[in-house]
Amino acid sequence: MTERAVRTHSHEFLWGTAISEYQVSGAVGCPHSNWADWEIQRANGSRRIARGRFSGNACDFKNKYHEYIAIMKELGTNAFRFSVEWSNVEPREGIFCAHALTYYSDFCDALINAGITPMITLHHFTDPGWFAKKGGFENEENISYFVRFCQKVFESLGHKVHFWATINEPNIYMFQGYLRGVFPPGKNNPFLALRVIKNLLEAHTRTYTALKNMAHGIQARIGFVHQYLMFYPYTSWNLFERIPGFMFNHILNTAILNFFKTGIFKVMNYEYRALSGEPMIDFVGLNYYSRVLVKAQMSISNPFVPACYPDEIMTDMPYALYPQGLYDAIVTVSQLNVPIYITENGIPDGKDDRREKFITEYISQVHRACADGYDVRGYYYWSLMDNFEWDLGYLKKFGLCHVDFETKKMTVRAGGRSYAQAIKKYSE
Ligand code: GCO
Repeated sequence: MTERAVRTHSHEFLWGTAISEYQVSGAVGCPHSNWADWEIQRANGSRRIARGRFSGNACDFKNKYHEYIAIMKELGTNAFRFSVEWSNVEPREGIFCAHALTYYSDFCDALINAGITPMITLHHFTDPGWFAKKGGFENEENISYFVRFCQKVFESLGHKVHFWATINEPNIYMFQGYLRGVFPPGKNNPFLALRVIKNLLEAHTRTYTALKNMAHGIQARIGFVHQYLMFYPYTSWNLFERIPGFMFNHILNTAILNFFKTGIFKVMNYEYRALSGEPMIDFVGLNYYSRVLVKAQMSISNPFVPACYPDEIMTDMPYALYPQGLYDAIVTVSQLNVPIYITENGIPDGKDDRREKFITEYISQVHRACADGYDVRGYYYWSLMDNFEWDLGYLKKFGLCHVDFETKKMTVRAGGRSYAQAIKKYSE
């Protein structure tokens, strides 16, 4: 990437984009997923997804992937991160669908033939409905179902896929599903939340060991994907703003990163030690968007609001452009002493009037980190195209490509093209 980075680490830098299966195929493409059930539920009379929308078949990715691969090439990318949907591979407990595995195998071949390195995420927020009914990751005894699924996928694709991410963002899965209650199972229970995180970390560790013991396991690079989400007080001296942020930062970041350094996950009196004591990762996948500024306000029902400073530029989500934060996140995760891949970074920008600035400034922080000797080996923009943004439905536009969800027509945005320019600039 830079002369110095190339000299320090002799590997090809991966320039990619990322998606997850449910977000691009929707409930129609993943009918056995717990999200397909969730979308049709009502809570207090209203639907779970913003504006009462349903995901439908989202971008119809399964039928359109050849067109998307052509766009990946046109943009000059050489890597792609996607998830294998567990509920499609194992729609009923213990019944594995050969057809679904063949689909993923064909898709990987199509990527590889186009010169695009695949990275598979084994768990990206969705669970099979049958698994959720058994209590999902709330129950430690359910972890073995996940490990068995991962082994099946690895058995079928381990010989052609080198990069594997076990679980995407345990912290966000827990935060949205067990504290905010906006993802299934819609709970608000801090004790359960801790147990779920612990079980996800254990699921990672057991999967890592299981896959390493399989054919091609030693050569495979198996990592874990963490969203580095930090809360900062709007006013540094305001304790009301500092204290909640301090707690969240510990649970959502420090405790998890410590686990990967020491094999111990500890939050107050709650402690979990990985059996081997070894932090088992070959790389860390870092997802980074921005930081959250916590501002206190005079309202009992809603005492804190996300904010930005007057000179900052907001995205279409309640956070600002904050490129410096990506550098800081790289420095923090570098403590794990494994190669770093930026597995997600992108901007919700419906008007496409900030995307170019975002891409240019965030990637320049990656460049700076490489020049400073940090072992960053890849960058994946989230996302290749607009897609189903979970509880927010289709309101947020992260895509390099605009998608017309009626016709499924995709068009590369002007701001999206700035990614191609950045790749070109830093690859020269
Ligand atoms: C995330 C998720 C994605 C989101 C993206 C934008 O990892 O949080 O991986 O599913 O769509 O982050 O909010």
